[in-house]
Amino acid sequence: MSEIANNINVLSEKQSEYMQLIAEIMEIRKRGEKPLAYIRTYGCQQNVADSEKIKGMLAQSGFDFTDKPDDADFILYNTCAVREHAEDRVFGNVGALKNIKRKHPQILIALCGCMMEQEHIANKIYKSFPFVGLVFGTHSLHHFPELMYNSLVNGKRIFERGNDDNMLYEGFPVKRDGIFKGWLPIMYGCNNFCTYCIVPYVRGRERSRRPDIILQEAKQMVQSGYKDITLLGQNVNSYGKKLDENVNFSELLRRIDAIDGDYWLRFMTSHPRDCSKELIDTIADGTHISKHLHLPFQSGSDRILKAMNRHYDRKKYLEIVNYAKEKIDGVSLTSDIIVGFPGETYEDFKETLSLIREVEFTSLFTFIYSPRVGTPAAEMDDPIPAEEKSKWFRELLDVQEEIAAKRCASMVGTTEKVLIEGKTGKNDELNGRTSGNIIVELKAPEEMIGTFQNVKITNARNWILKGELENNGG
Ligand code: 5AD
Ligand code: SF4
Repeated sequence: MSEIANNINVLSEKQSEYMQLIAEIMEIRKRGEKPLAYIRTYGCQQNVADSEKIKGMLAQSGFDFTDKPDDADFILYNTCAVREHAEDRVFGNVGALKNIKRKHPQILIALCGCMMEQEHIANKIYKSFPFVGLVFGTHSLHHFPELMYNSLVNGKRIFERGNDDNMLYEGFPVKRDGIFKGWLPIMYGCNNFCTYCIVPYVRGRERSRRPDIILQEAKQMVQSGYKDITLLGQNVNSYGKKLDENVNFSELLRRIDAIDGDYWLRFMTSHPRDCSKELIDTIADGTHISKHLHLPFQSGSDRILKAMNRHYDRKKYLEIVNYAKEKIDGVSLTSDIIVGFPGETYEDFKETLSLIREVEFTSLFTFIYSPRVGTPAAEMDDPIPAEEKSKWFRELLDVQEEIAAKRCASMVGTTEKVLIEGKTGKNDELNGRTSGNIIVELKAPEEMIGTFQNVKITNARNWILKGELENNGG
């Protein structure tokens, strides 16, 4: 695999021409007043951010969007490969599109994203789903308009995958889903090769966007009213390696934090291996940086961490976490955990439980290990039966529920700045989040959605806080 150091390209003129051509074709092919696209995104925020670029390109090609696949002229699923469950859902849902294609043969059905970068998956789609006309992987986003144009014009099935160019493209039109919460990718790919993870194989090598380009995008977001901006990368702590300018992640955060305005700055995901004291000091000293650290530890057992190729041990992890607790007042810690990694014993699992008890996380994203074709862990001996792993998993959830409840209960009586996000669906209740990313439910007028409010925490139910408006804070 050739590695190209931080090669930045701008979306070509040619792609804009293709968007124009698509608009002309769709004027004729559309079924309703305007050509409509239905986009469904699976998986992580990186995928959501990719879909926002695709939506930007489709909007420039004259499309509006619908949430009813039956009404669409173009259907796209942006897929996730991180666990088998996500892949199975995609297969099930793609199968269901067959009827729509039968009813409306002129619809173009496309699949993209991480799953499509895997050869065995692309082959399966090719054989089992003949109504899928276009398939492309994460490396093909920059010429999506060309691919779409070609499929529309010549009607042949197009499958593109793994051209392995680790280039970085700028200049995408982006159509963000949210109007006050937004994603801002700062880097792509991953170099870590944790032994269970498919991401480095489907998203390529790590490459960082230029700081001036990120800063400009962040400024535009703040100016256009974004209140909650999350910087995205598989491993944000290694931001900046190989850039011409010497800017590490902490420096990037400081530069963005210096933008004037009332907003929160978040980031994900941090890798404990590269999580520095400088980063924690930056969060502690920041003006807009939320007091939240998502720091996946995956397992509490040193033996398993080694087998996972994580490059830190329990002691190092606890050192960072304790430093964060000491420096960042009320820091909210969250993490990802894998249960049932090949060779994990109940003794190893108990180490995970004890780490959770020691750290007292606000919330956890917990997963049962899922073998991924082509990763080293998929070749390892995995003697523990699935039912046993599920038992451990439930035990983990019980312990975490108890911890989260205790943590939330300790916040009763405090006043929190909360970004009001939407309706809970119950009466006139709204929900929002604290700087530590904890959900708060409260009674408030709908006009407050998208604003910061000071909320007095009155009650806690498991990991959800209940509160009431204190004043029109800001
Ligand atoms: N099986 C289960 N969980 C996984 N993750 C990544 N790969 C796998 C896998 N093969 C989890 C990790 C990661 C999160 C995004 O998904 O916990 O941090
Ligand atoms: Fe996967 Fe590890 Fe990279 Fe995260 S850091 S994307 S878990 S390889």
